[in-house]
Amino acid sequence: MQAGYQLRGVAVDPRKSVVQRAYDQVVDTWGQARRTAAISTRESTWVERFHSALPSGASVLDLGCGSGAPILLDVLRRGHRVVGVDFSREQLLGARIRCPQALLVQADIGEVEFAASSFDGIIAYDSLWHLPRDEHPRVFDGIRRWLAGGGTALLTLAVGNGALFTDLMGAPVFYDAWPEATSLRMLGDAGLSVVGHHFQPVEEGGAEGHLIILVANTPIAAPHATGTT
Ligand SMILES: C[S@@+](CC[C@H](N)C(=O)[O-])C[C@H]1O[C@@H](n2cnc3c(N)ncnc32)[C@H](O)[C@@H]1O
Repeated sequence: MQAGYQLRGVAVDPRKSVVQRAYDQVVDTWGQARRTAAISTRESTWVERFHSALPSGASVLDLGCGSGAPILLDVLRRGHRVVGVDFSREQLLGARIRCPQALLVQADIGEVEFAASSFDGIIAYDSLWHLPRDEHPRVFDGIRRWLAGGGTALLTLAVGNGALFTDLMGAPVFYDAWPEATSLRMLGDAGLSVVGHHFQPVEEGGAEGHLIILVANTPIAAPHATGTT
């Protein structure tokens, strides 16, 4: 499958600009930490579940690919074709060095557009939590449209109720979150089937945390023809 895409420029929403600047600023420190940290069993379990749903030589979109490792590089090593999207120029420069075979696009996840059914799989690992939460339904709808029928997406989201301005290795950064049930309902409303999900609370028994979700684009049955021809 050949992916078509439109580049609509860089972010203008101040909540997004702050995130974009943060990832440009921490490219070395954050990138180094992400690449060298041990991948948690939880992360690797869900990444493997995602990969087991892909055909060989799949077309994969990585939304918020960062500097390309470990996720995007791993997808390439498994023999798939990848389009990586990120709005941080510095992160993408790293990804270009690490993953020269990938098609890398500097764009805002909330603005980028692809042709329908372009991808067998989509990953958005720890990126959507940086989008203002009102944009989630539109992004979920895009993921459903961009996935081929039966395609699979692996997403992570923050779970909470509202915006959080904090810092990432000294750089101001922004997160936003819905309660878990709201995010799962929004995915269903977008036409995606939740195949599995796992919530990891920040504090034991707490309602805030990190949610990993595997969804599938289950084809919608064609409407029955009515009347006579
Ligand atoms: C926590 S990092 C995750 C990177 C990679 N997915 C990984 O798992 O290592 C979040 C990435 O999402 C990107 N990002 C955040 N919001 C974005 C947006 N609205 N559009 C494009 N990229 C975005 C950041 O620039 C950053 O590279």
